[in-house]
Amino acid sequence: MKFDTPATTNPIDQMKVVGKPIPRIDGDLKVTGRAKYAYEWHDASTPYAYGYPVGASIARGRIRSMDIAAAEKAPGVLAVVTTLAVGERKKGKFNTAKLFGGDEVQHYHQAIAVVVAENFEQARAAAALVKVDYAEEKGAFDLKEAMKTAEKPADSQQPDTSVGDFDATFGSAAITLDEAYSTPDQSHAMMEPNASIAAWDGDNVTVWTSSQMIDWWRADLATTLDIDKEKIHLMSPFIGGGFGGKLFLRSDAVLAVLGAQAAKRPVKVALPRPFMINNTTHRPATIQRIRIGAERDGKITAIAHESWSGDQPGGQLEAAVAQTRLLYAGANRMTAMRLATLNLPEGNAMRAPGEAPGLMALEIAMDEMAEKLGLDPIEFRILNDTQVDPEKPERPFSHRNLIGCLKLGAETFGWSSRGKPGARREGNWLIGQGVAVAFRNNMMLPSGARVRLDRQGIATVETDMTDIGTGSYTIIAQTAAEMLGLPMDRVAVQLGDSRFPVSAGSGGQFGANSSTSGVYAACVKLREAVAAKLGFNSDDVVFENGEVRSGNRSVPLTEAVGDEGLVGEDTMTWGDLTQTHQQSTFGAHFVEVGVDVATGESRVRRMLAVCAAGRILNPITARSQVIGAMTMGVGGALSEELAVDTRRGFFVNHDLAGYEVAVHADIPHQDVIFMDETDPMSSPMKAKGVGELGLCGVSAAIANAIYNASGVRVRHYPLTLDKLIGNLPDVA
Ligand code: MOS
Repeated sequence: MKFDTPATTNPIDQMKVVGKPIPRIDGDLKVTGRAKYAYEWHDASTPYAYGYPVGASIARGRIRSMDIAAAEKAPGVLAVVTTLAVGERKKGKFNTAKLFGGDEVQHYHQAIAVVVAENFEQARAAAALVKVDYAEEKGAFDLKEAMKTAEKPADSQQPDTSVGDFDATFGSAAITLDEAYSTPDQSHAMMEPNASIAAWDGDNVTVWTSSQMIDWWRADLATTLDIDKEKIHLMSPFIGGGFGGKLFLRSDAVLAVLGAQAAKRPVKVALPRPFMINNTTHRPATIQRIRIGAERDGKITAIAHESWSGDQPGGQLEAAVAQTRLLYAGANRMTAMRLATLNLPEGNAMRAPGEAPGLMALEIAMDEMAEKLGLDPIEFRILNDTQVDPEKPERPFSHRNLIGCLKLGAETFGWSSRGKPGARREGNWLIGQGVAVAFRNNMMLPSGARVRLDRQGIATVETDMTDIGTGSYTIIAQTAAEMLGLPMDRVAVQLGDSRFPVSAGSGGQFGANSSTSGVYAACVKLREAVAAKLGFNSDDVVFENGEVRSGNRSVPLTEAVGDEGLVGEDTMTWGDLTQTHQQSTFGAHFVEVGVDVATGESRVRRMLAVCAAGRILNPITARSQVIGAMTMGVGGALSEELAVDTRRGFFVNHDLAGYEVAVHADIPHQDVIFMDETDPMSSPMKAKGVGELGLCGVSAAIANAIYNASGVRVRHYPLTLDKLIGNLPDVA
């Protein structure tokens, strides 16, 4: 099915199941430990061996030789596979740095060997015995230095945009702002490490892994192994978080497959936590410059956003100016991004790549600008709302209710009680409130599904869609139940298996809308098959209460499908509605913080997010997405920072003790409100994504609240106490 005209009324609009707060159907499996994650495909009859990775201890250079004699002789060792023995391999489509193979070292902790042994401890002990002789080369590790020679990447990365005459308008504007901001390297730090089990059967290999994107992984693994994609069976039914760290094939899968081949045994490999941070990808640091010019009435006349980030040679820039191209009005505007070469581990997508770090800067700048204009920051944003793409005014937004989010949020949160910076104090706590806008584009990817209806009246949905903790199982079941007129307990959902139709996968907050649309399309096919079998006209057929009805004829579904059952399969593809209309999601984040006047420690006291993201398919799972994202934004504001060793070229704090993420206990109170809306331009589901929206803007709202509390403006994340302590008012 191709979605190329706005959705009209369809069975989803009944909202008997879709839109209901249904607890996740895989919840029992998870809380009882029966959901099998990648490392847990224990099967007593299979003699698994354990693989332990060896990482490069230099950041850049070549491996002259490797001495594996001691490792091979160590107790329990079955095989040692080295990057030299494996030789140069073709890189998959999605990674910049290679995962394994050849003598070149591109970054610290790049995988250079896997040691396979009877048990984990033996593999780990033997891995420590591998000796490597390197020819080390000088690398670039400091973004501040490297940005001086940063270059404009290929047009495919859309580095520059420009409309009107920014320089002239900015130069003559009544009120101007010109400031620099920075965001650090961040790590996905998901709960479940990257992990895989590989088992060969002749020429075929089965890989249980932890992947957000089954088909991307399968294709890249086939390229790396130089085998036919059909020979790889990939499974990833349960995933303990990804945040982009599992979008693209990772080394654990490659090492498990090659280790299993060498040891002639199924092999499991989990990347140890201290290895993950430098071996896998991260969100790259940015340095950003923002200039805004406005007239005294508060209308923006000129806005410019420039950003510098770094990556491995041939890599990607962090698209931190993305939201500035779309968020606020202003006739004269420019954006530019430059990419520096860094020999740090590969920079790549992490939850809301682009907008998350971009809004961390832009939304502080907007707060500063409002203050210069003597306007309330909400009023300033409302004044500069736009209903069209400001760079291409002929393109309207499909639906945009940012103003509604700001107004409802202000009222609910008690925004009117906010005082002047530094004005509110309770004991040693300086109290302040901040606001920031959330904005993230809505993308769609083709998504397929197969739905079988059997003679017991059970519908089984099969798609290679993944559930990374987001609730995919549940919203897919709701979609099938709604389309087929069945209760939830008559629907089974099977995900994350390469034998199933290729889906959108989980990423870029496109998963929920895209994958349920694929299920919608498959259900339409199934409904047509049922109608055809009964000789019903599929246009006026109704599926309700386990029956299919046309006019005054009604047949139980169990009877209609017969002994053989019926199957519907289809893939949703997308027309050009995303070109003719800008599709985005919107929100407003409100935060209250306390800043300790003596220690400079900041604490979040309460938070509220108001989101406008089309139809909400399940308010429980959607809320969980936003709550989790807000929590991530607290980490981003206050603690998360990969510390770069700019001499040796690696991230020093490579575990969860040194890389501090925010947790439940850091935030006493969180609320989420969803605007009641649908977006018929997005899909037949009329839904959009929320998983990344919830993160966008949070950290800036916290920075703005800290300013309102303390009077100290910090433009460089994270907002640790050292950036506040010397500038706070007297304790007394
Ligand atoms: Mo997301 S960074 O596309 O998992």
